[in-house]
Amino acid sequence: MTKKSILVARAIFPEVLEMLSQHFQVESNQSDEVWSADVLKQKMQGKVGALTTGSERIDAALLQANPQLKIVANMAVGYNNFDIAAMTSAGVLATNAPDVLTETTADFGFALLMATARRITESEHYLRKGLWTKWSYDMFTGAEVHGSMLGIIGMGRIGQGIAKRAAHGFGMRVIYHNRSRLSADLESACKATYVAKEELLRTADHVMLVVPYSAESHHTIGAKELSCMKPTATLVNIARGGIVDDAALALALKNKQIAAAGLDVFEGEPALNPALLTVPNVVLTPHIASATIQTRMAMAKLAADNLIEFLTKGKALTPLNQVTGN
Ligand code: GLV
Repeated sequence: MTKKSILVARAIFPEVLEMLSQHFQVESNQSDEVWSADVLKQKMQGKVGALTTGSERIDAALLQANPQLKIVANMAVGYNNFDIAAMTSAGVLATNAPDVLTETTADFGFALLMATARRITESEHYLRKGLWTKWSYDMFTGAEVHGSMLGIIGMGRIGQGIAKRAAHGFGMRVIYHNRSRLSADLESACKATYVAKEELLRTADHVMLVVPYSAESHHTIGAKELSCMKPTATLVNIARGGIVDDAALALALKNKQIAAAGLDVFEGEPALNPALLTVPNVVLTPHIASATIQTRMAMAKLAADNLIEFLTKGKALTPLNQVTGN
């Protein structure tokens, strides 16, 4: 029997390609070229399944040009690169990669918070430039993390992981804002108190963003929100570019309206708002919150398992939509 054809749109662990090759005819992209929308549309020709990362957009134009497509498996928990409504009406199953990255991403959120509040990269740059000539009592004094108030916007699995680290490990008071309030049991496991967004911005010493990107969450933090925050506060975005208005943030950092920010994601990434590169009080990382070997492997395997399970047995592990007729 001829094997079904699938596309792996970006470079991936060779073990995972091997795993897929046992079931499918695989076209891969091990040179990791970033394809334009037109090239991606072209490469999808004849494929019934595809493994994508958060960088490949699956939209109506691609779906129209590829009526044979049955499933796209995202190697990411976020899926704002998918037009889910268009996929559902085209009968294409969408899957993401939840759970396997929760703890690793929560670790990174905490690392970025620590690096930002305690000015780790800023002070390292100073040292590397050969500017360190003496110890001074106020050199790179930052903000306390332990015992301070953490405000989390977006309290899904990763937000809850951060809350637990903060409350149990660092004795922080945790407040959160979310579309829906957690159950009393989850609130008590996270030691987190639900508050309105305005109260969170006004009272938190550190604000962490872990909310999925959507039209509704676009610019959750803009000039108005930044103006409500404490001048000593830090802001950490490990969610998605576009949750923060990066131009407004760069200005707020320049004017010391807030103390510092830690950003793993950016509007229009991998391009950055150039103003962010001109302010010292920001820690910048290239979208690496889930980047440990084990976690990236687990994400890739989950995406591959979704393709295998769906295309060989008709049932995916982590579906995002319901489709019929496959
Ligand atoms: C990473 O950003 C993801 O959504 O998995």
